[in-house]
Amino acid sequence: MTTETPSQRTARLAALDHEHVWHPFTPMRQWRQSEPIIIDAAEGDELIDTMGRRYIDGVSSLWCNVHGHRVPEIDAAIRAQLDRVAHSTLLGLGSTPSIEFAARLVQAAQSLAQSRESRRLPPRPPLTRVFYSDSGATATELAIKMAVGFHHHSGRPQRTTIIAFRGAYHGDTVGAMSVGYCETFHRPFETLTFRTVFSPAPDVTSAPEAQDIDWPWHDEALRRVGRDRCLAQFDEALDAHGDTVAAVMIEPLVQGAAGMVTHPEGFLSGVAQLCAARGVPLIADEVAVGFCRTGTLFACEQEGAVPDILCLAKGISGGYLPLAATLCTDRIEQAFEGEPWEHKTLYHGHTYTGNALACAAALTNLDLIERRGTCAAVQRNAAIMAEALGELRDHPHVGDVRQRGVMAGIDLVASRRPRRAFDVKPRLGHAVCAAARPRGLIIRPLGDTVILNPIPAMRADTLERMMRIVIGTIRSFDFEAARC
Ligand SMILES: Cc1ncc(COP(=O)(O)O)c(C=O)c1O
Repeated sequence: MTTETPSQRTARLAALDHEHVWHPFTPMRQWRQSEPIIIDAAEGDELIDTMGRRYIDGVSSLWCNVHGHRVPEIDAAIRAQLDRVAHSTLLGLGSTPSIEFAARLVQAAQSLAQSRESRRLPPRPPLTRVFYSDSGATATELAIKMAVGFHHHSGRPQRTTIIAFRGAYHGDTVGAMSVGYCETFHRPFETLTFRTVFSPAPDVTSAPEAQDIDWPWHDEALRRVGRDRCLAQFDEALDAHGDTVAAVMIEPLVQGAAGMVTHPEGFLSGVAQLCAARGVPLIADEVAVGFCRTGTLFACEQEGAVPDILCLAKGISGGYLPLAATLCTDRIEQAFEGEPWEHKTLYHGHTYTGNALACAAALTNLDLIERRGTCAAVQRNAAIMAEALGELRDHPHVGDVRQRGVMAGIDLVASRRPRRAFDVKPRLGHAVCAAARPRGLIIRPLGDTVILNPIPAMRADTLERMMRIVIGTIRSFDFEAARC
């Protein structure tokens, strides 16, 4: 029997991949012309490819890994669950890990109420009900149906409009796409989406004042001006759409897919206050920011905001298995209660809703977050990142840097003042991230913004190495040659 060498195996898998796998968010012609990195294993903070090369996982395997790969405790929890049952349906049946995890999640969500108490803010109804699904998009799509259904069954069927924020991203299913704001992604599917009202989100670079300011995201005064303008416009949108508004949907603190757009302090709490004053349900999409990524278990805690509906996915299972949860208040769930023939039931579900293996992983993930103090690790890691990112302050092609917790975006620009973007064709964000790979780091850009989103619990020495690679790659990159 002949055994393949690593090179032969890599070449065979690459050929099969090019032949059969359609990769998400990947220009396929260019992909097929490239030599792909094929991940074969992982250990701790590193991914290992079929050639045995190691890479720091600088995007937490698309923002979901929390404690690293092959965590003994999570591995053991999944194996133990495998010895009982891998999956059974939640349609009309209970399942042990889904029950235990729901109760645990509701308990964890009390951190939101505590964040209000500590600010001496009046209490808001707690999140007590958990509806499971499988991904961020299904969690947000479900939140929309919960909000619209809640009004429908409460005698307000005209309340169907969602107000979202410009630059928002809530997933790629048609409903989730409808409340997101990206012309490029949505153009071919525009006729499928429903109409959403988009209110401006604080984007300091679009403010006229920003033209004369270097690294405008670091200008607190400008950020406050942007925040107040946006809140005023949001208030107007609530007035203009009045009793047709079903809910407001927000990515708390950071609009991740917009390029790590960090909101100024007070924007989230301002939005929450305006919603509460008008009795409009607030949907917090914590798919990206939840599970410690910004330094607290939920980002909303940092502004004492308690949503009426909370969407969770990505980090919920520690980055192990597809799982999502949409939490809501008693009041929202109770609107769906009635006699079966009244058809108030939420007719919604997915085959793998509440999957037992995923819930077992999620339970252990939450235990580890508490036992290991993962949120404190994020605060330590955020400081390491901030210090390193400061080294880009004088780089002629770094227009700005935004950071919240371990989520960071580095804007690459043709010129800083006046602020001018690079031509899109050379895909400079992509080129810089590709240049980091031979140095042992996997990162992904969003346009010409280099995105960093390391594993929240990443070891400090690994993160320091990662940041040296990031800074070294950008510093040594020949922007002049690459833009041609
Ligand atoms: C804020 C937010 N919501 C929803 C989603 C969609 O999640 P998924 O890719 O699991 O569908 C994402 C994905 O990046 C996200 O950042």
